[in-house]
Amino acid sequence: MSKQREEACAALLRQARMVVDAEGTGEAALHKVKDLLVGLADQRTSLFPSGDFAMPDAQGRNHILALEDGDGMGLYLTIGLPGKEAAPHDHGIWCVNAAIAGREVHKFYRRTDDGSRDGYASVEEIGEVMVAPGQGMAMADHAIHATVVVGDEPAIGLALYGYALARFPSVVWFHPDLSSVRAGVSRRAEAA
Ligand SMILES: [Fe+2]
Repeated sequence: MSKQREEACAALLRQARMVVDAEGTGEAALHKVKDLLVGLADQRTSLFPSGDFAMPDAQGRNHILALEDGDGMGLYLTIGLPGKEAAPHDHGIWCVNAAIAGREVHKFYRRTDDGSRDGYASVEEIGEVMVAPGQGMAMADHAIHATVVVGDEPAIGLALYGYALARFPSVVWFHPDLSSVRAGVSRRAEAA
């Protein structure tokens, strides 16, 4: 990894940490973190040349850019091939994205049932954001989003998560048409 990129990514983590420690992870704070990440992604030609990051064989892949010490945040370069889709899901932890190239649509949902029936969930769509160069998105700890890479160019972007992916909580997947929900395995136990 180029020294310059390493330093810029470490600086981004420090700045994001300052915001989160001072202001928490509410909407206003995450908006600030998103702006920081969009600023970093905007240096794409110098810091993130596509030749430095292997493309996925299919769908998508992530490259680690920087990780905080301990049980901290993780910063990744993400690549999604055209058409890559993710069903509505809740990461359990906040996430901020910024685009380097390509376009990805994020649809946001709200859960409308009370969670009392095992395996059952109803969700309704509440908004949509296009993540494209110069634009990002921020989602709070239990926000629900679905994604699709649109256009014929891979979507390459930066993603900052409240936890590293290797120490991720259970991701909860929703199937709106079937009103079903299933939870993935948490990696938090390994983080202890
Ligand atoms: Fe997601």
